[in-house]
Parts: sequence; structure tokens; C-alpha cells
Amino acid sequence: MGLYHIKTFGCQMNEHDSEILAGILEKMGYAPVHDVDKADIILLNTCCVRETAEHKVFSYLGRLRSLKEKNPDLIIGVCGCMTQQEGMASRIRHLFPYVDLVFGTHNLHRLEEYLTRISGAREHVVEIWPSPGSITEGLPIKRKAGVSAWVTIMYGCNNYCTYCIVPYVRGRERSRRPEEIIAEVKALAQNGFKEITLLGQNVNSYGKDLEERLDFAELLKRLEEIERIERIRYMTSHPRDFNDQLIETIASSSKVCEHFHLPVQAGSNKILKKMNRGYTREDYLNLVAKIKTVLPRSTITTDIMVGFPGETDDDFEQTLDLVRQVRFDSAYTFIYNTRQGTPASKMAEQVPEENKRQRIQTLIRLQNGISLEKNREYVGSTEEILVEGKKVKDELYLCGRNRGGKMVFFPGEESLIGQIVPVKIEKAHLTHLVGCRV
Ligand code: SAH
Ligand code: SF4
Ligand code: F3S
Repeated sequence: MGLYHIKTFGCQMNEHDSEILAGILEKMGYAPVHDVDKADIILLNTCCVRETAEHKVFSYLGRLRSLKEKNPDLIIGVCGCMTQQEGMASRIRHLFPYVDLVFGTHNLHRLEEYLTRISGAREHVVEIWPSPGSITEGLPIKRKAGVSAWVTIMYGCNNYCTYCIVPYVRGRERSRRPEEIIAEVKALAQNGFKEITLLGQNVNSYGKDLEERLDFAELLKRLEEIERIERIRYMTSHPRDFNDQLIETIASSSKVCEHFHLPVQAGSNKILKKMNRGYTREDYLNLVAKIKTVLPRSTITTDIMVGFPGETDDDFEQTLDLVRQVRFDSAYTFIYNTRQGTPASKMAEQVPEENKRQRIQTLIRLQNGISLEKNREYVGSTEEILVEGKKVKDELYLCGRNRGGKMVFFPGEESLIGQIVPVKIEKAHLTHLVGCRV
């Protein structure tokens, strides 16, 4: 049988979807290949959250032309969020006529059928479902063997932040039934996985659409009981929905990690309102204060956007001020980018590119200083590290994370992979810590 290569763009949701695509292909008898030149099937799992993500997909597709010329039997498929945009499937086929297959986020479970149709008749297949069907369970998932696994708990998003395209390309919120999630996590535990990361665009909404009302805090409690799973993480949570009960649940849990990724997006109430985020800067600061009171050793990370329409120097100053007050462990920073079909794309007062660039540089400089200072606070302390594997490019070092999610490198034997070991931190860098076993 043939070889496949999957190129994934975008977030963990997409990474995890690619594990399903790989699972389907391997069930069909295909094997993975690292070298794209050798593949018989190439799939691009795309992202469209910002224009830069789309540019990457287009340039990658352009480079595949020569491969198709050399090997006309090569099957090239494009799927993922980008294909769900109106008119995009035909645009892809028009610009890159050598693409054989285009499918969307709601029908990736049909991959086998599409490939059979293509190899039978050498026809093109373009199939995008405008909205999701019911959740398909039991799909094969090809996870990298190891320590940590992603588990989807819900699909889609109902929040409609005014800048964001995700609700349009991923559909409305749908929660997986708790029994399905628990069964999946139990199987992962049996297969040696030690850590799970629960995935959803807004995990705090989990369960709102289920017949049996069961919320995210309750789901965490049930997953906590599963033996041999040592750590539970989740992403992403929405600051608006992060209630006291959830903080209490996390505080009383021994497995749910004390890492709070709470995308703030902006520090000005005017901008937060225009973004439709549903909280004020005061709400956000209160939430952070509560978390720090209940769990003083927790890490707090965030996503921040600059240059949203109408953002003045003063609004931006409020973002900087919030960053100084919270002192995030780290932050993903983005320049606002117009996405067609979103309410923000029609807003007046789009910020000039030059201002956006200056603002992001100022923000990154501030945050990098804080990130390094926060990391330095760990020097001298001993952290419990779940060893994930060997460090890339330096095999003498192992890598793993502390409960707060900080990446730590230290010298050690391969046999430690999958174990939790105490590591004394000796040196702090911007993105990671270095230490040695104690
Ligand atoms: N559901 C998650 C992640 C959404 S996408 C959440 O709500 O946090 C990840 C990040 O991309 C967002 O947090 C936001 O900061 C950024 N983002 C989304 N749309 C964007 C846009 N149009 N321009 C720039 N950044 C954007
Ligand atoms: Fe986008 Fe907002 Fe949903 Fe996150 S919560 S995916 S930013 S609409
Ligand atoms: Fe993720 Fe990009 Fe889609 S961020 S949900 S892959 S648009």
C-alpha cells in the first residue's frame, strides 16, 4: 500500500484532527512518510484564523505542483477550517487544478469514501458540509505513542467574538457525551498515557447542549477518578465563563494542573465590548486575583491582540497596563487581522498597519521581560516534571513540563520517559527552564 504525508496548520484542534485523518489512512493500509516527495497521498489540514495562515497554505500548495507533474497518481487533498469559507473550495480548485480532493471540518470522517471515489474514477471530489452532522464517535486516532494525548470534549464555538472566524468554520457548540470521553481516557490510561489535554474552543461551555446536564467542573471530577492518568490539562477556557466553582474544583483536584490559559485579548473595556468578549478588565483582574489567592503557585498565560478597529493609543496603553498588573507567565500576541464575514471587518476606524506593528513590538518587549523574570523565580526550586521525551537536537537532554506547563530540559536517561521526576531548576530562559535531577 501507499504512503501518506499530512501537513497541519493551525491550533491543537487541527493537530488532533490530523491524528484522526492519519488513523483513517492507516486503517486503510497507508503508512506515514516524513519526506513529502515520497508520498502517494498528501493532505493539507488548513487554518484560516489569520491571513498569514492562509498565505502559508497557498504557498505550500504552489510548491506541490512539481510533485504532481512528476507523479500524476499522487493524490493531493485540502481540508480543515480554510475550506469551510464561502467560495474557498472552488477558489482552491481554480488556483491549483491539480488538487484532487477538498473537504471540510464537518466531514473529515468520510475521508476513506472520498479516496475510494478518487482512485476508482480519477474524479475530483469537492465536498463541504455547511453545518455539522451529529458527532461521529469511534473514529480511529493515530496518536504519537507517548505520554500526553489530546482528547476532544467539544466541537465548535457559539461565542462569536466579532473578530473571529472560528464559529463560522467550526460550527455551533456540540459536546461529546461524558461516557465517550471517559471511555477514551480510560483506554489512553491503559495504553500508558499519563497526561491528557481536553480540547474545545471554550471548554467552560461543556455540557450546555447535553440532555444530561453535566458541566465542565463535573467532567473534571469524573476524569480525576481514572487511574494511571496523572495530569489533566484543558484548553481553551473563556474568562467570562470561569466561575468560582471551577476554581474550587481545580484547587481540590490532585490531577488538574494549575495552569490557567485565559485569553484576555485586550485591556480596554471599550475594545472588549466591541470584541463581544462578555467581560470587563475589572472582571478579568478579579478572576486572576481569585486564582492567585486560591492557588498562589499557578501559572497564568493568555492571548492578546493589538490593532482591533478603534483601538487608540490610550486603549493600547490599557492593554500594557493590564499586562503589567497580571504579570502573565507567557502570552501569544497577535496583530488583528480582518476576516471576511466577521462583524469587525465592517467596523470603521481600522488601525493603520504601521501602528499595529509598533504596538505589537512594544507589547512583545514588555511581555518578554516579564516572562523571563517569572521564569527566573523558579531558579533554585525543585519541580515535578512529567518527562515527555528527548530534547530535539540534543539527545543527552530530556524534556518535560512542570504542573504549570513550563518546559524544562535536564540531562537524563530515556528510561525516565513517562515518569514524574523531581528536577532542580538551575537556569531560566525566555521559553524554558534548564535543571538537573535531584
Ligand atoms: N477559542 C480560543 C482560541 C481562538 S483562536 C479562544 O477563544 O481563546 C486563538 C487566538 O487567535 C485568539 O485567542 C485570538 O487572540 C487570535 N485571533 C482570532 N481571530 C483573530 C484575528 N482575526 N486576527 C488576529 N488574531 C486573531
Ligand atoms: Fe473565536 Fe471567541 Fe470562539 Fe475563541 S471564543 S474561538 S476567539 S469566537
Ligand atoms: Fe484552529 Fe485555525 Fe481552525 S486556529 S479552529 S485551525 S481556523
